[in-house]
Amino acid sequence: MNEPAVKLERVSVRYRVPHERIPSLKEYAIRWVRRRLRYADFWALHDIDLEVGRGEVFGILGANGAGKSTLLKVVARVLRPTSGRVRVWGRVAPLLELGAGFDFELSGRENIFLNGTILGFTKADVASRLDRIVEFADLREFIDAPLRTYSSGMVARLGFAIATDVEPEVLIVDEILAVGDAGFQKKSAERIRAFRENGTTILLVTHDAAALKAMCSRVMWLKRGEVEAVGPVDEVLARYQA
Ligand SMILES: Nc1ncnc2c1ncn2[C@@H]1O[C@H](COP(=O)(O)OP(=O)(O)O)[C@@H](O)[C@H]1O
Ligand SMILES: [Mg+2]
Repeated sequence: MNEPAVKLERVSVRYRVPHERIPSLKEYAIRWVRRRLRYADFWALHDIDLEVGRGEVFGILGANGAGKSTLLKVVARVLRPTSGRVRVWGRVAPLLELGAGFDFELSGRENIFLNGTILGFTKADVASRLDRIVEFADLREFIDAPLRTYSSGMVARLGFAIATDVEPEVLIVDEILAVGDAGFQKKSAERIRAFRENGTTILLVTHDAAALKAMCSRVMWLKRGEVEAVGPVDEVLARYQA
């Protein structure tokens, strides 16, 4: 394999979920003070080992709740693993679940600045990219409206346009390819293909078997937070679909 772009060693993630439903924030605070909060530990990922080579397009599939988004968040550093080690070489552009990183009260334009800053750009840098982003997302007439007035397809287009304007070294795509109309899907698939040709490493979560086959070299099947299989797309897909 090439040099690694992403490497996970024995990565586990535990979520703590309060045991009982707590009716209000006040009640929550009272219980916290009295140390009467009980948690159920939920391990969303167990001891994941993974190495993705530079320039690889790596797919992740699995049922809902298998831990796919959790895995991507750990790579994007949105979430710290409870144990284990995550290393990423190069600039990461995360396209996480719909709306992650957006403020729905702000306008599309303001959200472009917000996200650009999160990705490490200066204001001037974002300003110089603004037109291109708006153009690609096809949101010219709506760019000053608050995000809460957007459809989910529009939010997805904006997220994709921002994250992929930065020419990332590692691109993370979580189930957004199926959102948006056919025209946008085609445009985004083309952009991803161009990245792939330029050697961008891509981690892709999708339920679209055709997209996995068309784009990925290898695939991982996650099952209840554990690696069920890793290997060539056709092999893993066949087992998953069986
Ligand atoms: N913030 C959270 N707090 C508690 N449990 C969570 C949280 N996020 C995800 N989970 C749980 O972790 C498991 C894995 O979730 P996720 O990574 O979103 O799965 P997938 O993307 O494969 O559908 C699910 O059972 C989900 O309910
Ligand atoms: Mg998910």
